[in-house]
Amino acid sequence: MDKVKILIVFYSRTGSTEALAKAVGEGAEAAGAEVRLRRARDIVGPDVMAKAPGWAESSARMNAIYEAPTSDDAVWADGAAFGTPTRFGNVSSELKAYIDSLGGLWFQGKLNGKAGGAFTSTSGPHGGNESTIISLYNPLAHLGFIIVPLGYADPVMFRAGTPYGASSVSHQNGAPPTADDLEVARFQGRRLTEVARALKSKV
Ligand SMILES: Cc1cc2nc3c(=O)[nH]c(=O)nc-3n(C[C@H](O)[C@H](O)[C@H](O)COP(=O)(O)O)c2cc1C
Repeated sequence: MDKVKILIVFYSRTGSTEALAKAVGEGAEAAGAEVRLRRARDIVGPDVMAKAPGWAESSARMNAIYEAPTSDDAVWADGAAFGTPTRFGNVSSELKAYIDSLGGLWFQGKLNGKAGGAFTSTSGPHGGNESTIISLYNPLAHLGFIIVPLGYADPVMFRAGTPYGASSVSHQNGAPPTADDLEVARFQGRRLTEVARALKSKV
């Protein structure tokens, strides 16, 4: 069988979700996947990006590394993980804009049966990490993904993350994900790859 193909699409403004996305990719690669890592582009104007020191620079740094996600990436993938910073307990409009761009694929049923998952970063420990991940489950269901949660299916789940998907807390000072947060993200990449492989073998 061909290598399982995993797409990781994230939005990140200050690097926390980016760090989780990279760890999801590491876990997927460790499980034998070919990985595409893509950053959804900013949709707010320069006036908003200038409101906090470093936002514009951080965005430019990431855009130089990661291609923008396309519809073809979603068709290519056997499984996809979607990562976003929490925005008022919900998905960022930048990642949602990419998801909304998949309407044509939804109409053609092109994403049916692919494995899908979600992860997030919040500033507060109870700032909406689980509600954000679960809000991403809604479009995944509409698009036909088989949603892959984490449960407590690895010992690291008793130390960090959520049973719905990987998470980190940046504590209003841009704190990066902890070693355990990253281990959960790697587990998410492995698990998504294993489920995508099992689904692919049934086709
Ligand atoms: C408009 C806006 C809304 C936010 N809403 C929340 C929120 O509801 N809960 C929370 O804990 N953090 C919230 N945050 C903070 C980010 O989710 C948090 O800093 C996250 O770690 C940033 O991830 P990134 O480094 O990948 O950009 C918000 C930030 C912005 C700019």
